[in-house]
Amino acid sequence: MYMEKIIDENKQGENLILEHKESNSRKLFIESYGCQMNFSDSEIVASILSEEGFNTTKSLEDADLVLVNTCSIRDKAEQTVRKRLEKYNAVKRSKNPKMKIGVLGCMAERLKSKFLEEEKMVDLVVGPDAYKDLPNLISEVDDGRNAINVILSKEETYGDIAPVRLNSNGVTAFVSITRGCDNMCTFCVVPFTRGRERSREPQSIIEEINDLASKGFKEVTLLGQNVDSYLWYGGGLKKDFKKATDMQKATAVNFAMLLDMCAKAQPKMRFRFSTSNPQDMTLDVIETMAKHRNICNYVHLPVQSGNNRILKAMNRLHTREEYFELIDNIRRIIPDIAISQDMIAGFPTETEEEHQDTLSLMDYVKYDFGFMFAYSERPGTLAGRRMEDDIPVDVKQRRLNEIQALQREHSHYRTKQNVGKVQEILIEKSSKKSDAHWSGRNSQNTVAVFPKEHYKVGDFVNVKITDCTSATLIGEAVGYSDNN
Ligand code: SAH
Ligand code: F3S
Repeated sequence: MYMEKIIDENKQGENLILEHKESNSRKLFIESYGCQMNFSDSEIVASILSEEGFNTTKSLEDADLVLVNTCSIRDKAEQTVRKRLEKYNAVKRSKNPKMKIGVLGCMAERLKSKFLEEEKMVDLVVGPDAYKDLPNLISEVDDGRNAINVILSKEETYGDIAPVRLNSNGVTAFVSITRGCDNMCTFCVVPFTRGRERSREPQSIIEEINDLASKGFKEVTLLGQNVDSYLWYGGGLKKDFKKATDMQKATAVNFAMLLDMCAKAQPKMRFRFSTSNPQDMTLDVIETMAKHRNICNYVHLPVQSGNNRILKAMNRLHTREEYFELIDNIRRIIPDIAISQDMIAGFPTETEEEHQDTLSLMDYVKYDFGFMFAYSERPGTLAGRRMEDDIPVDVKQRRLNEIQALQREHSHYRTKQNVGKVQEILIEKSSKKSDAHWSGRNSQNTVAVFPKEHYKVGDFVNVKITDCTSATLIGEAVGYSDNN
């Protein structure tokens, strides 16, 4: 799920830094754009650099090193990063000539040395699998040379690095469980920028979760481009599993098993996960969700289109009918589950009728939330190479508007269903609109606000929902839930 809203809000000055080493004297300013995985990766980077003498700072002007963790998913995401790079360079020229600037993440991987050669906007270029090389790369930069490492790895999962929590509310955290993606959706740049899919050792995941629990965190979101495809058999790529020994096959851990392990390791902690690809989501995952009260009743299940011809052209390996079957199974096993989508409007060759299929699919599912985008051609992808981006911008935009309007209707419909119910809310922070109210989320991931009274951040509170806006529940606390 992409956090465009968070990008907007990710302004200077909002970092809450949990760990600072007194002995560190250099200052790191780090910003993240794009997916939750990038936010999580930046915490790994901050941890690696904390061992190298860097504490994070929220002031760009004072930074010795500025790193931007970048997103290539759509052209607009790359333009946003370019604007930030211009800003850093302006600050460097006018206020802080010693500042070094580095680009991390998907744009680093996609554009590689172009950043150093043609654009001359950065000193350092580091791809998503090369963060452990940062100490060497930074010493090159300190010696006055540009430095680059964009080698993709078959093994790296950063399982041995304890992230420094940035921008944290101290209650919710991300834990990454897989890296890369092998799905090769034809529109998507991720398999090129993040490499082949590999899973992180379960024990290191459980240790990170236990550590978070001991620090007072109450909710963990397990992250991967395609979490349902998680498979640990002693290391190695997902695609090489067929070559594993019988012993490795017999002791392999899949996603349902991992979820079960997490839920049991910390029974009072809430668990979420993102993202599920419909073609990889199995019934045992849904059954495991149903079995554990602490696995939230929420699934992000991107579909991209409601039309079979377009799904095929996108290399999404399921049909509209199979998707409906999955939705029906999920709702049968967990009736009060919330489901969200990602949708792409105006994929090459999409007709008006095929767009209508997307709207009718939405009518069937009535998603709780959605993340909707106009198709953006990405260089190097199969669709980018083989298909003309032939839907005019205004048509794409109109189709996107229709999808968004329908989603707003459905979100409102779903939100309203909660009114009158008592729901368990985990308090995360003060409400943005009123300092007298807490803001938190229910199991279904819908935000709820209610008067603060004597409750505090991190409490699980039963809240009677009395009203709602299109996306937010409004209520009153009726007492602590039995999960505290
Ligand atoms: N599995 C990933 C999906 C990454 S891309 C995850 O963790 O979320 C996130 C969403 O961006 C996709 O589901 C898709 O809806 C959208 N997207 C990806 N490539 C796109 C493109 N070329 N144009 C428009 N939207 C795109
Ligand atoms: Fe991209 Fe499809 Fe993987 S959307 S991240 S290639 S599941």
